Amino acid sequence: MNTCIISAHRNMFSVCTIAVFCLASVSLSAPLACEDSTRPLDQLVPRHLEGRWALVAGTLSDPAQLAFFKRRDSSSVNFSITSAASNILYTPSVLFGGKCHLQSFNVSLERSILTFDVRDQVNLTMTFLNTSCEDCVLMRFDNESKELQRLLLFSRRREMEQREMEEFTAQAECLSMPPPAVMDPNTDLCLERSISPSAPAPTETEQR
Ligand SMILES: *[C@@H]1O[C@H](CO)[C@@H](O)[C@H](O)[C@H]1NC(C)=O
Ligand SMILES: *[C@@H]1O[C@H](CO)[C@@H](O)[C@H](O)[C@H]1NC(C)=O
Ligand SMILES: *[C@@H]1O[C@H](CO)[C@@H](O)[C@H](O)[C@H]1NC(C)=O
Ligand SMILES: *[C@@H]1O[C@H](CO)[C@@H](O)[C@H](O)[C@H]1NC(C)=O
Ligand SMILES: *[C@@H]1O[C@H](CO)[C@@H](O)[C@H](O)[C@H]1NC(C)=O
Repeated sequence: MNTCIISAHRNMFSVCTIAVFCLASVSLSAPLACEDSTRPLDQLVPRHLEGRWALVAGTLSDPAQLAFFKRRDSSSVNFSITSAASNILYTPSVLFGGKCHLQSFNVSLERSILTFDVRDQVNLTMTFLNTSCEDCVLMRFDNESKELQRLLLFSRRREMEQREMEEFTAQAECLSMPPPAVMDPNTDLCLERSISPSAPAPTETEQR
């Protein structure tokens, strides 16, 4: 069905003009645009992931968790390539209330999907989605029933350009997620080497 805007106005000679703009193409292309903008990457080279990425923005499907998420000072993930069968060591860290919480996990990468070692009992699947931002990784986290739990944008930078945030906001909207929370670019990140592992508090693996 066409969406039409009808506008009428009277000019100084009292001639009524009516303009009709039909927005059929806009309403038809919207779902297709969402499909394109939320597509998983076809292939991801592990080398590309290596090193540390700062969380720049994120959104969670659960409003209570999102409120808690917004209270973190900063967050980052570190990927390193290992010789283990599960080829990547994934270390999410969260600075919360001035304390660093981090834990390492063996994960395996297949195409654009990271899965946890079964022994870790973390029932989450992480998928890398396409983004136009070249120094970013966009990750979606799905639970066991394949339902989207969170969508996180990480970058080598601490802060995004406005148009990059707009793209991310649109992607979140396409996936029916709440508007993303943007991280403060001026807070410190966890200093991994100086901190001993702590209880897996609010890291990127919590499921509730
Ligand atoms: C990852 O796997 C290797 C080899 O199986 C094991 O030695 C190591 O302890 C594991 N690391 C973590 C954090 O589970
Ligand atoms: C993950 O799933 C397994 C098997 O379904 C279950 O035993 C385990 O308790 C779940 N772990 C968490 C943290 O929910
Ligand atoms: C990923 O996004 C870029 C830029 O937005 C686009 O040029 C490219 O075709 C996309 N790739 C896939 C696999 O959708
Ligand atoms: C997965 O998440 C959805 C929505 O957040 C929830 O309703 C469902 O119970 C979850 N499934 C599991 C197995 O935790
Ligand atoms: C990332 O993890 C690797 C391996 O554990 C470590 O050598 C490296 O220093 C870490 N990078 C940062 C920035 O913490």
